[in-house]
Amino acid sequence: SAAEKGGYPNFMMKEIEEQPRAVADTLLGRTDANGHLVLDELRIDEAVLRSVDKIVVIACGTASYAGQVAKYAIEHWCRVPTEVELASEFRYRDPVVNEKTLVVAISQSGETMDTLMAVRHAREQGAKVVAICNTHGSTIPRESDAVIYTHAGPEIAVASTKAFLAQITACYLLGLYLAQLRGNKYEDEVRELLRLLAEVPDQIQQVLDGIEPVRALGREMASAKVVLFLGRHVGFPVALEGALKLKELAYIHAEGFAAGELKHGPIALIEEGLPVFVVVPSPRGRDSVHGKVVSNIQEIRARGARTIVIAEEGDDDVVPYADTIIRVPRTPTLLAPLVTTVPLQVFACELAMAKGLDVDQPRNLAKSVTVE
Ligand code: G6P
Repeated sequence: SAAEKGGYPNFMMKEIEEQPRAVADTLLGRTDANGHLVLDELRIDEAVLRSVDKIVVIACGTASYAGQVAKYAIEHWCRVPTEVELASEFRYRDPVVNEKTLVVAISQSGETMDTLMAVRHAREQGAKVVAICNTHGSTIPRESDAVIYTHAGPEIAVASTKAFLAQITACYLLGLYLAQLRGNKYEDEVRELLRLLAEVPDQIQQVLDGIEPVRALGREMASAKVVLFLGRHVGFPVALEGALKLKELAYIHAEGFAAGELKHGPIALIEEGLPVFVVVPSPRGRDSVHGKVVSNIQEIRARGARTIVIAEEGDDDVVPYADTIIRVPRTPTLLAPLVTTVPLQVFACELAMAKGLDVDQPRNLAKSVTVE
């Protein structure tokens, strides 16, 4: 009903606006008086968590992109090899999983059959499974060894938004917790990141407060036939998510590519007027690939692409090559997906609305897919 939508035209817009809260609530109550992370729900023996020699993240759809972000963060902070796999592929290829493997199953609903079957398979091989889930008492957390609940609140729109940001947040908490437990060389960085993570809900709010130009862009591009998305490092899964949202909601052929792969194939697609979103990494930080991504923007622009660039405040390097710039607040590189995803969600939602489509219930899709 209209009342349930709280004045928004649909649940998706409402849920997009609820994202600062979803992230804040997922972070709530996770530290003790000494500023140490505590994950009360994570009832796996600490000795077991210390002995883990491999992490495998399994999920479907949008949740799998949260998993891809987790891989970058967990490997960097914890130095534990981490793989991400689509749940539907995982169990049918005889994966190497054993007592020293920690499997992280990410699912908003907790009922996705592909993910559930992967969880069962992992546990049969002796792996410990931690679920990251938004739905209390659902099947996947019940069948897992432990759970970290995301506190996004009920998500009604079929295409995931606030649950995605909450999943990424929970993945950061898990990564930082494992780093803390395993006493790794980035201890100061971990403490600092916890502090900066707490500032992210306000930064998401800033993005939402300035979102009107992105909405206008969505309306203006309602007749687009193809849209490409480029990203690198954690911006790559963000690009994939931006493309998925556009497919799901607006039925537009959209693809996400790793920016560094452009020269190995996708650059052949670039032609006059083709819209390309580019998620630009922070220019700061170790081993930044910022300069390389700026070169990519230059390359595609020279070939006629219409460049729509998502870049942090103060990043002036992108200005000469961007047809449109969408600004996001400065965050540490690994936390950036929590802000850079938001304009892509709003763009897809607004564009689909301009096409007169039902964004809450896109054709052929279900909120939770309980068949394999
Ligand atoms: C369905 C939905 C997607 C969702 C995926 C995984 O395909 O349409 O939006 O990302 O399932 O759902 P889950 O509940 O496991 O996160």
